[in-house]
Amino acid sequence: MQLRRLCAMPADSSIERRIAELRAMLDYHNHRYYTLDDPEITDTTYDTLMRELSALEAAYPALKTTDSPTERVGGAVAETFSPVTHLLPMLSLNNAFSPQDFEEFDQRVRSKLGTETVIYSAETKLDGLAISLVYEHGELVRAATRGDGERGEDVTSNVRTIGSIPRVIRQRLPPALMEVRGEIYIDHAGFKRLNAAQRVRQEKAFANPRNAAAGSLRQLDSNVTASRPLTIFCYGVGACEGLLLPDSHFECLQLLGAMGFRISPESRRLSGVSEVLAYHVGMLERRAGLGYDIDGVVFKVDSRSAQEILGQVAKAPRWAIAYKFPPEEKMTRVVAIDVQVGRTGALTPVARLEPVFVGGVTVTNATLHNADELHRKDVRVGDTVWVRRAGDVIPEIVSVVLEARGSEAVPFVMPCTVPGQAQSQLIQSLVHFASRRAMDIDGLGDRLIENFVQSGLIKSPADLYKLEEAQIAEQERLGQKSAANLVKAIRESRRTTLARFLYALGIREVGEATARQLASYFGNLDALLVASPEELERVPDIGPAVAGSIHAFFANPAKRTEIDALLKAEITWPEVQIQRAAALPLAGWTVVLTGSLATMTREDASEKLRGLGAKTTGSVSAKTKLVIVGDEPGNKAERAVTLGIPRLDEVGLQGLLAAPTDPAQFVIDHQL
Ligand code: IVH
Repeated sequence: MQLRRLCAMPADSSIERRIAELRAMLDYHNHRYYTLDDPEITDTTYDTLMRELSALEAAYPALKTTDSPTERVGGAVAETFSPVTHLLPMLSLNNAFSPQDFEEFDQRVRSKLGTETVIYSAETKLDGLAISLVYEHGELVRAATRGDGERGEDVTSNVRTIGSIPRVIRQRLPPALMEVRGEIYIDHAGFKRLNAAQRVRQEKAFANPRNAAAGSLRQLDSNVTASRPLTIFCYGVGACEGLLLPDSHFECLQLLGAMGFRISPESRRLSGVSEVLAYHVGMLERRAGLGYDIDGVVFKVDSRSAQEILGQVAKAPRWAIAYKFPPEEKMTRVVAIDVQVGRTGALTPVARLEPVFVGGVTVTNATLHNADELHRKDVRVGDTVWVRRAGDVIPEIVSVVLEARGSEAVPFVMPCTVPGQAQSQLIQSLVHFASRRAMDIDGLGDRLIENFVQSGLIKSPADLYKLEEAQIAEQERLGQKSAANLVKAIRESRRTTLARFLYALGIREVGEATARQLASYFGNLDALLVASPEELERVPDIGPAVAGSIHAFFANPAKRTEIDALLKAEITWPEVQIQRAAALPLAGWTVVLTGSLATMTREDASEKLRGLGAKTTGSVSAKTKLVIVGDEPGNKAERAVTLGIPRLDEVGLQGLLAAPTDPAQFVIDHQL
């Protein structure tokens, strides 16, 4: 309990448990992503988990540990390759998504350097794997993956098989030590050849060039690596001894080129924001024709001495930024429109597409969300459409190419019902009920559920708990042993958590996060069952629509009967510690942020403040309790002065986030 006492704010055991759970999940997904090259969740889901953990650790600093996933950039060191500590940490990059983001970055650089115009080295942002190549007296002695940025994996023997990476630097007097950094990747032509070869050998094709490159570099047998079309673009120098490098990063790249390293022909030296923005637009136009994947452009302050002055924050330099591209769009044809029944009974139109490779995967379906969306976009069977896949999200149809529409194309009429709808809905709701994040019934797959429903054995989730071994074994292809295992899994699923149970019920608009909020706000099911919409709206992040949906669900007699039946089946959960927003240190505080912050984005700061119970808004009013003033603040800062509202600078904000126990006193002590 030592931990508890040290805590700036008392953390109850449910918070400790959640932190442990998040860390375990993130470690697991890091392993899948970095070590196995086989991610199970989308980047967005990963980021959500990471943000939740960061927010909890910010709110309860005493629960922070040095081995928390928030302390690492990601990635564990595989057991099969030896770990390597990098000579200098391998940093990551902050992102910009709009001209404004870049302008803000440029502004910060200019004010820190005290210069009018900044010279940038502009480069493509390759989508491959970062590598560190260490040369001693001109000889490649070690190659390592980035790993967590501090430590990576020794892949020297594999890297030695890559033709475009020099094994020796051909120079009369090579430096005593030089670390070259770059991105290993596979180009489109190589990727096509590789996948064709995989198919001939009846092996699994790679989803995209990045996965193929990662899988190829991390082969235990370097002969396999040698057969893969890996190549490199080098983008910088890390540690260096015995050689005076030019002050210009761009010139360093040229020097690397002269030494025999492969450097991108797209790099340019640019001056100021307008040239940078033009380069970004230009590369975006040329992207499709490059022959390899890039996901944006990188701008680095060209002068290395200026880079040193700017330094770094956390794991990213203040002198560089990745300006990402919007998601890729491709054209394809709609071959059919199907209507699917969801677990809540909602009908979702889905476009079946001619397969198209977009955003790194082959897309064959795109959701049209609902009837409104379908009619708004007026997608018809036979239409040529633009398809987009952003990051790892579900592919979507952006628009119809009307010029390409044939005269025979007729508007799609969305049916009000579909044949077998009730049964489909039941199947979907059972699939959801049994899923890993809900009741987690191991071995109860979609097919089996379909069989159970179609044979009339199961009419509601509670029926699952009445299943007997013999009944299960009767189902096709299921042996006695599997049947026994399934009965056991069903029985074990009864011990769950309130949050999981709520999520499993499949209430419209209630995902895992909302289910958790409900569980920790109400603490028990009885209180939730009788909660009014107004009470529900008091739960963090629940608005009128979600509150209405939850209230309607519990007011429905059929749903109540279903819940009673489940409780009779002895579904139980441990008591939940009630955690109301009022217990958080900044509850009741309305905070406004203005200007840019150097150590975090405004969104991050808002999220941290909200995690502590504060409400963040965009405009200063008499209700505002505190204004955080960053660099180049807007007139909100002046308005705060006029209204006599306390202001804190970034250092003050950090202090408040680190120790929010007595916020009022803190603000008095630290206000501007
Ligand atoms: S510079 C200190 N330059 O992007 C800067 N990185 O998000 C660190 N990348 O791990 C890297 N192209 O794998 C740099 N021209 C480029 C790059 C590049 C791709 C990757 C690299 C890095 C990641 C950072």
